[in-house]
Amino acid sequence: MPAPILVIGSANTDMVVKTAKLPAPGETVLGGKFLMNPGGKGANQAVAAARLGGTVTFVAKVGDDVFGREARAGFIREGMDTQYVLTDPDRPSGVALINVDEHGENCIAVAPGANGNLQPTDVAPALQAAPPETLLLLQLEIPLPTVEQAVKLAAERGLRVVLNPAPAQALPDSLFVNLFLITPNETEAETLTGIRVTGEATAERAARKFHDMGVQNVIITLGAKGAYLHTADGGGTMINTPPVSPVDTTAAGDCFNGALTVALAENQSLTDAVTFACRAASISVTRMGAQASMPTQADLTK
Ligand code: RIB
Repeated sequence: MPAPILVIGSANTDMVVKTAKLPAPGETVLGGKFLMNPGGKGANQAVAAARLGGTVTFVAKVGDDVFGREARAGFIREGMDTQYVLTDPDRPSGVALINVDEHGENCIAVAPGANGNLQPTDVAPALQAAPPETLLLLQLEIPLPTVEQAVKLAAERGLRVVLNPAPAQALPDSLFVNLFLITPNETEAETLTGIRVTGEATAERAARKFHDMGVQNVIITLGAKGAYLHTADGGGTMINTPPVSPVDTTAAGDCFNGALTVALAENQSLTDAVTFACRAASISVTRMGAQASMPTQADLTK
C-alpha cells in the first residue's frame, strides 16, 4: 500500500500570455494566445501527485470567489481529499501573471491573496490526522511561520518531510534538521547555501553544505540537464532528463516534486524516484499550462 501524501501550499489562477520574447523592464510586447489555467506551486504538486496515482490530501486557502470555487472543484475532480482546503472570507484567491516565450521560458509575478493568510493553526488538524507513514510535501508560497509549524509538527509525529524551497528565500537554520529531502533548483540552492550551482561539481558542493545544515537527502534540479541526487550516506549521482522540445516550462519543477513524492510513497529508491520525476517533468514541458501539463500514469507507461 503506497504511503499517503500530504501537500500543504498555494493555489493560484494563472493568467498566461505567450510572447516571442519576455518583455524587458518598461517594454510592452505584443503576444499571442491568452490562457487562464489552474496553478500555484502547492496545487500543481498536489495535482501532479494525484494524476500519477498518489493518495493526496491538500491543505490550502482560497478566496470566497469564482477562482477559489473553480480551484476546489478541480481538486475534487483530480480525486484529492479537500477537507483542509479552507476559504478565506476576506482575501481573494491567489493569482499569477505569467509570460512564456517561444523557447518555453517564463517569468511569473504572484499576488498571493488568501495563500498569504494560511496560518500555522490552519495546518495542525491535517498533520495531527496524518498516518505516521505519510510524506509531507511543502513549498514556500505560503507564510514561512506556517511552513515552520508544519515541519515541526511533522517531525514530532515522525513524518518524512520533502521541502521544495520555491520561490527562493532565506530559511531559518532550525528548519533543515527536520528535512528528509530538499529539492532546490540552481537559484534556490545558491540562495540557501551561497554556492553558485552551474553543474554537477558545484551541485555536489551545495549538496554537502545542505547535509552539514542537517538535511538528510538532497536533489538539485538542473533544468534540461536533469537532477543531481546526493544521499545521506554520502553518494552523489547525476540523473539525466530525456531530451524534448519545450513549449512551456511553467510548473516543470512542480511536476518533478509531485512525481518524486509519488515514487517515494511507493517505496521506490531515491535514484528510481528521481528518474521517474525527470521523465514526468520532461512530459510536462511539452504542454502549455501548469496543472494542465501534468502527465497521467498512462503518459508515463507509453
Ligand atoms: O511553479 C509554477 C507556479 O508558480 C505557477 O502555477 C504560478 O501560479 C506560480 O505559483
